[in-house]
Amino acid sequence: MCIASYSIVYSSRTGNTALLARRILDNLPAGQRRYFGPPCPAACCAPLLFVGFWVYNGGCDPATQTFLSQLHGKQVVLFGTAGLGGFRGFTGYPDYCAAVLRRVKSGLAGDNHVPGSFLCQGKIPLSVGEWYKSQLQSDPHNAVYRAMIENFKEAQSHPNQADFAALDRWLRNLLPALKLPF
Ligand SMILES: Cc1cc2nc3c(=O)[nH]c(=O)nc-3n(C[C@H](O)[C@H](O)[C@H](O)COP(=O)(O)O)c2cc1C
Repeated sequence: MCIASYSIVYSSRTGNTALLARRILDNLPAGQRRYFGPPCPAACCAPLLFVGFWVYNGGCDPATQTFLSQLHGKQVVLFGTAGLGGFRGFTGYPDYCAAVLRRVKSGLAGDNHVPGSFLCQGKIPLSVGEWYKSQLQSDPHNAVYRAMIENFKEAQSHPNQADFAALDRWLRNLLPALKLPF
């Protein structure tokens, strides 16, 4: 089995995680690529899988959960987007990201190896922002809804150029560990 071959598998409901997947695609050699697309058994022909997800209820989306649960003996590099970001005053963001990634990894069988993971903020659907606003209207002093609206506004510009630059850096640092021959 050739360590150099890889697949990029991603689940994306509204396009944020797809942008990260495309960026990873552009940064890796085409010759060793076996698959690029949604979770599918065909992706498993490669020993190295880049698996992209969107955060759902503090873990990964259901399609990714199912896909991850079927993997054995793979190197699995995780990447994803979350609606929650490091907005002003939210000091718990790094812990939140760590908890999400822990939960996602816990869905993998123990014979897989996760050499790296990346998470950044993604846009939140407008309907969710409208809902936060309506809640705040009926409860104007609610600090949680205020914070959620602030986070919603920040999220609308993500993933942004800084996120892509961070993704590029992360990937550059990770590649030697994946032994891809460039
Ligand atoms: C049903 C649902 C549940 C979500 N749960 C979370 C969550 O628990 N934490 C979070 O940070 N974002 C959550 N989000 C926001 C998405 O993770 C975020 O918008 C993500 O960037 C969407 O990625 P996509 O555009 O690739 O689908 C949720 C979104 C939906 C629709």
